Amino acid sequence: MDFKLTEEHIMIRDAARDFAKSELLAGVIERDEKQQFPTEQIKKMGELGFLGMMASPEYGGGGMDTVSYVLAMEEISKIDASASVVMSVNNSLVCWGLDTYGNEEQKKKYLTKLTTGESLGAFCLSEPEAGSDATSQRTTAIDKGDHYILNGTKNWITNGNSADFYIVIAQTDREKKHKGINAFIVEKGWAGFEIGPKEQKLGIRGSDTHSLIFNDVKVPKENRIGEDGFGFKFAMKTLSGGRIGIAAQALGIAAGAYELALEYSKVRKAFGTEICNHQAIAFKLADMHVSIEAARHLVMKAAVDKDNHENYDLSGAMAKLYASQVAMDVSVEAVQVHGGNGYVKEYHVERLMRDAKITQIYEGTSEIQKIVISRSILNK
Ligand code: CAA
Repeated sequence: MDFKLTEEHIMIRDAARDFAKSELLAGVIERDEKQQFPTEQIKKMGELGFLGMMASPEYGGGGMDTVSYVLAMEEISKIDASASVVMSVNNSLVCWGLDTYGNEEQKKKYLTKLTTGESLGAFCLSEPEAGSDATSQRTTAIDKGDHYILNGTKNWITNGNSADFYIVIAQTDREKKHKGINAFIVEKGWAGFEIGPKEQKLGIRGSDTHSLIFNDVKVPKENRIGEDGFGFKFAMKTLSGGRIGIAAQALGIAAGAYELALEYSKVRKAFGTEICNHQAIAFKLADMHVSIEAARHLVMKAAVDKDNHENYDLSGAMAKLYASQVAMDVSVEAVQVHGGNGYVKEYHVERLMRDAKITQIYEGTSEIQKIVISRSILNK
């Protein structure tokens, strides 16, 4: 398969690379340490068009393809995976979902603000008792004629406090199981909508992850996305695309860690020579390089499938499964190449190693990707 990039792709990739180096790198260690959301940086990303890359231009989006998006995700993730998860959720789960399945009024009212970064979005599916088992939603939305009454708790929500608009998945008719699930747009500040405590996390500490509590929140019927009962399919379709973004994030974490290890190995001396001259290090670099290239091919394959309107459930799951394993393996090895320096913050690789772990957990654990992959190859 030929993944030749166009001039436009290269321009977008380079713009993301420049932005990451000039705007994200300087404060990334401090934001990680203080669990500080990159407010200013995200605002700039919105102004530069990184928050609604694939959305339709008539709603403020960039109208770009998925290949452009994964290239930008990789570059941002090399430097700051906290900023890239904000970018990923807003692009893939919120803007793409609304652009593809929202109605005209919803797009005008919400999407136009989300694509430009004027507002930020969150995607709320996970619950205390429904993480991987997404059909077991306990949050309820009871039909009251012209509105729904929303009750329940959502957990581990990215952009939990910083978002303005939340796509909330809830059960409207338990009897109908997954066919009785709907997706709603909920605004921050509505009566009964409370932001819960911030999670203290191992990695991606610059992003804000919260639980959300809905207590008799009145949601107008016009804020339901799609036909009654479409919510579960909406979540699954949206997550399928989201997984390509997270695969690109994992790839970026791996590539970022590898690039740091490569440079370090050329300057650090031990036993009379630069450490890259020792096979113990050179072979590690060779293994890292090969696995990153293999992950990049899977990520690009999934992106191209999506752009060609082919089914990308399988290729997206394969890309996420593999790239997240590579992110973990490569970042651990990058710390090893750095020796003692790898274990301290100023060399960046320990943060990338901590950030890598989440890519095996969110938007479907590695085990969930294996369910999707095995069902696909077994035609279930
Ligand atoms: N596209 C369209 N429809 C799909 C679909 C897809 N990719 N996957 C499943 N469906 C449909 C099925 O066709 C079925 O519908 P019908 O009955 O009409 O045929 C329905 O959904 C139910 O499907 P399953 O019987 O396969 O459902 P299941 O209970 O076995 O679960 C699963 C399937 C793949 C395990 C799913 O539950 C899943 O993906 N779980 C993980 C959820 C997840 O990713 N959570 C992450 C939270 S979001 C997040 O992390 C965001 C963030 O903040 C970063």
